[in-house]
Amino acid sequence: MLDIKGSVAVITGGSGGIGMTLAQKWLESGGKVVIADIDESALAAAKQQLGRDVETFVCNVTKEEDNAALAAYVMEKMGAINLVAPFAGIIKDGMMVSPDKETGKVTKKMPLMDFQKVLDINLTGVFLTVRECAEQMINNNCKGLICLVSSTGSLGTAGQINYSSTKAAMSVMPKVITAEFFRRGLADKIRCVAVAPGYVGTAMVKNMNQKALDKILADVPIGRLIEPEEVATLVCDIYRNEALAGETYFIHGGLRLGSKG
Ligand SMILES: NC(=O)c1ccc[n+]([C@@H]2O[C@H](COP(=O)([O-])OP(=O)(O)OC[C@H]3O[C@@H](n4cnc5c(N)ncnc54)[C@H](O)[C@@H]3O)[C@@H](O)[C@H]2O)c1
Repeated sequence: MLDIKGSVAVITGGSGGIGMTLAQKWLESGGKVVIADIDESALAAAKQQLGRDVETFVCNVTKEEDNAALAAYVMEKMGAINLVAPFAGIIKDGMMVSPDKETGKVTKKMPLMDFQKVLDINLTGVFLTVRECAEQMINNNCKGLICLVSSTGSLGTAGQINYSSTKAAMSVMPKVITAEFFRRGLADKIRCVAVAPGYVGTAMVKNMNQKALDKILADVPIGRLIEPEEVATLVCDIYRNEALAGETYFIHGGLRLGSKG
């Protein structure tokens, strides 16, 4: 079992939502944290709330140089990287094509920009954060976990062709990365997994209108949103348990999965 005490976590998207809750849990267990985010003022507010043992780093995860600078900063400032949690993510929902109810002709399409932006942050951004942090971990002999965040959307949610595609990628990446590390004799040192939450009570979900939220909750057997703390606790448990590698772990309160149209 790995101990969180004294271990260093790098969390992107760490100034809010699940990322910030993970930072809090990590600190409570005696770890140290660097939170990175594009939102500078939210970062400052998060640091104030989280207190000691937290460093912040302004980083746009879509930029290669920002990720390289982040990984180098964590090594220099904290001396290790033990948990990589690339949790920066966005949604830009919409149907791929929307035919008019009366004419049957398509009147609206998902703009390329809305597709691309979600891929840039949720997929390319994660790739860059993980690549740069993995390089530092390997070169500096660090032990730990890369924990990606997938979603139940990875199984295919209507209105989320962009988001679902990126989250499906998050579910396969742990297998690729684990296989590559295995090939190089690194898999016992650096594990990679994903957690795949259902609907979590963060701004991303709470900003939905009540009708949409009620519809979502009608499909959740436990009858409520998942708490960010429940996801953060799962990440910490996976970190400690070194038998867990290469897999995606769902946490969704029994959600009826798949898209029903
Ligand atoms: N909330 C849910 O129901 C849910 C469910 C499954 C998966 N997830 C995933 O969990 C992760 C966190 O979600 P959340 O609900 O905490 O979201 P959130 O919106 O509360 O937090 C996301 C953070 O990412 C930051 N960010 C956005 N673009 C960025 C960029 N280019 N560079 C750096 N930071 C950037 C934002 O500033 C924000 O602080 C996301 O990847 C999301 O897809 C969320």
